[in-house]
Amino acid sequence: MLKSVLHEAVMAGAEQVVKYFNQTFDIKYKEGRNNLVTEADEASEKAIIEVIKKTYPDHHILTEESGDLPQQSEYKWIIDPIDGTINFAHGIPIYCISVAVEKSGEMILGMVYNPHMNELFFAERGGGATLNGKPIKVSSETDAMKSCLVTGFPYTYIHEQNGPLQVFERLITEGVPVRRLGAAAIDLCWVACGRLDGFYEHRLQPWDSAAGFLIVEEAGGKVTDFDGNPYSPYQHRILATNGLIHEQMLKVIHNQ
Ligand code: IPD
Ligand code: CA
Ligand code: CA
Ligand code: CA
Repeated sequence: MLKSVLHEAVMAGAEQVVKYFNQTFDIKYKEGRNNLVTEADEASEKAIIEVIKKTYPDHHILTEESGDLPQQSEYKWIIDPIDGTINFAHGIPIYCISVAVEKSGEMILGMVYNPHMNELFFAERGGGATLNGKPIKVSSETDAMKSCLVTGFPYTYIHEQNGPLQVFERLITEGVPVRRLGAAAIDLCWVACGRLDGFYEHRLQPWDSAAGFLIVEEAGGKVTDFDGNPYSPYQHRILATNGLIHEQMLKVIHNQ
């Protein structure tokens, strides 16, 4: 039941979003630089919440645009109605809808859908990860310096020690290809299906990674913070890899 509601919710969000793509829509600026929200983000979020509430009115919900909607429940839905809003607002079709379900503090389901590629990524804890229903697994690259990586840059805190600029500089100085797709949930899913070997970012929010990190883990990858500790989406820093280049990537991050 949870799974089918999750699927229905993600598809309801996607239905809203594709209606707005390449059309005219309102854009509002939130606090901070380049932090925007479009009419489509709001319509997607509303549709997703409506679907969840129809079946589970007493579940806790955490979303990017409406914030925390707490309830006394062991279940929490974590929603990013559009991950990759800046891409979306520029007509770049690299964005997705990302929804995860946490039970008693543990992520149990994650779903990420990119409507333009018609790619639906899904994972259930202990049940593996799939792309459009077919099992996926991470890449087999063993050398970080031969890897194709992806990252994202925050709009602030860019100059900190071992921050986004320094880590990026170390990698590109070695000639390592590092992509910047602009949607963290897609970054994670593309690591999960082996297109990319690793992803790191310095300042994510729970809704950016909640579904994607479970999808990477269930595809056989490894996800930690920058100290190699088990990952929690309630902290900012993430390193997600195929597992084989993980230690090498931690060393690059810490300049060791
Ligand atoms: C953003 C994207 C981006 C990442 C940012 C996120 P949004 O999410 O995931 O790739 O670099 O940190 O905020 O705002 O498009 O949902
Ligand atoms: Ca945003
Ligand atoms: Ca996001
Ligand atoms: Ca978003």
